[in-house]
This record gives sequence, structure tokens and C-alpha cells, in this order.
Amino acid sequence: MFASRLPKRVLQVARAAAFRRISSTPCRRSDALFVHRDTPYNNPKIPFEFTSENLKRAEEIISHYPPQYKKAAVIPLLDLAQRQNKGWTSISVMNYVAKFLELPPMRVYEVATFYTMFNREPIGANFVQVCTTTPCMLNGAYEILDTVCKELGGIKPGETTKDGKFTVIEVECQGACSNAPMMVVGDDFYEDLTPATTKKVLDAFARGEKPKPGPQSGRHTSENSAGLTALTSKPYGPGEFCVEEFR
Ligand code: FES
Repeated sequence: MFASRLPKRVLQVARAAAFRRISSTPCRRSDALFVHRDTPYNNPKIPFEFTSENLKRAEEIISHYPPQYKKAAVIPLLDLAQRQNKGWTSISVMNYVAKFLELPPMRVYEVATFYTMFNREPIGANFVQVCTTTPCMLNGAYEILDTVCKELGGIKPGETTKDGKFTVIEVECQGACSNAPMMVVGDDFYEDLTPATTKKVLDAFARGEKPKPGPQSGRHTSENSAGLTALTSKPYGPGEFCVEEFR
């Protein structure tokens, strides 16, 4: 009764103050698969084991850890197995790594489903990851992503071309922000991209060549694109004096 006698504006302010506002961001669905369903190409009956070469590598990796902590090698071993399995981590790969490290398979599933660098579905021969985090986004990452998708016949992020040559995904920061925008193809970074240089890089991969990684703008690594602006003269240091300062 008392509240109803208060002016409307006062009531509105009082009601607003009574509720704590929570800021939220819209939910963004992942394109990663977090559950396993047996399929003809991904089921535990498909055999997997390390090649003799990778077996040696795996033993070498494990030797870096105390015997009771060899489970710590789960990430490098999954990576090794994924590389051998054409870039993706099948259920047989995970089960094999679990057996190899004498771990319950669930421990390996947990790792493989947590880290996004483990692909749970087959990928194309060239795995293209376009960074769209803020520094890249502000420098035209979405233009680069559009160019990649268009160049690859109109596929969408998360898809593979029909000929199996390319898979494209959108990724978070790859740590090359000073050379934004960038994309990763396989293990190599292609930086300072423009739509034109992106096409050039993809064309080279489509021809089966490997274009030179790094900045595609011609600059050397991440040197200042405006040229040298600091340390333009010989710095003085231990054993040398700036004579001017002592005059
Ligand atoms: S934001 Fe793209 S590499 Fe850091």
C-alpha cells in the first residue's frame, strides 16, 4: 500500500536498484565434437599403433619424465599419434595412447576433448586456421576468413573441401598479433595477410607447393613496418662511455 503511493519514477528507480544486473555474453556454439559416437570411420575396432619410427620417438618422449609420471607425456604422445593418423585423433588413437601410458582411457579422452588442437574428426590435407581474435579482427581477419571460404569453393568454417585438400576453421589468438591478420596452415604461420596474399598462399597449397611462411608483406618477422625508429645509433654499454655525457 505504501509503495503504491510513491511517484512512478521513484518506484522504477527502487525496483531497478533491487535487482543486481549481470552482464552476459551470448553463447557461442563450438564446432568441436565432445562426445563419441561409433561411425564406420571412427570406432574402436579400427586398429592403430605407432610406426616403428614413432615408437622410438614415443619412448624418447617418455624418457624425459620420471617412470611414475609417464602419464605427463599424454599431450606429446597424442600429438605424435594425431600426426601419424593424418591430423586427427580417433577413438582408436586415444585408446592406443591410454594403453601405451597405462592410463584409464577416460584420462586420455578428457585431454583430447579439452584441447582444441586435437581434431576429433578427419581433416583435409591442408588444415587452415584463421585467427579472428581482437588484434587480427581489427586488422581485417573476417575479410581473410571470407576470402579463404570463398577461395575454397564456398565452404564454411569447420568444413572440408569436397576434394579433401583443405579444412578451414576459425581460431583464437595464435600469439602472432603483431603480424595480424594471420592464419596457420599445417604448422606454419602466414602473417600480415591481405585478401590478395591469402589467395596466393592458398593457390600455392592447392598446387601442392609450400609457400614461404611468415609475413606476406615483405617485412622481416615482426620488425616495425614504419622502419627503424629506435636504437638507430650504436648504444653505449659496459666498457663503453657516452663521452658527451662527461663533458
Ligand atoms: S589476435 Fe590473431 S594472432 Fe593474436
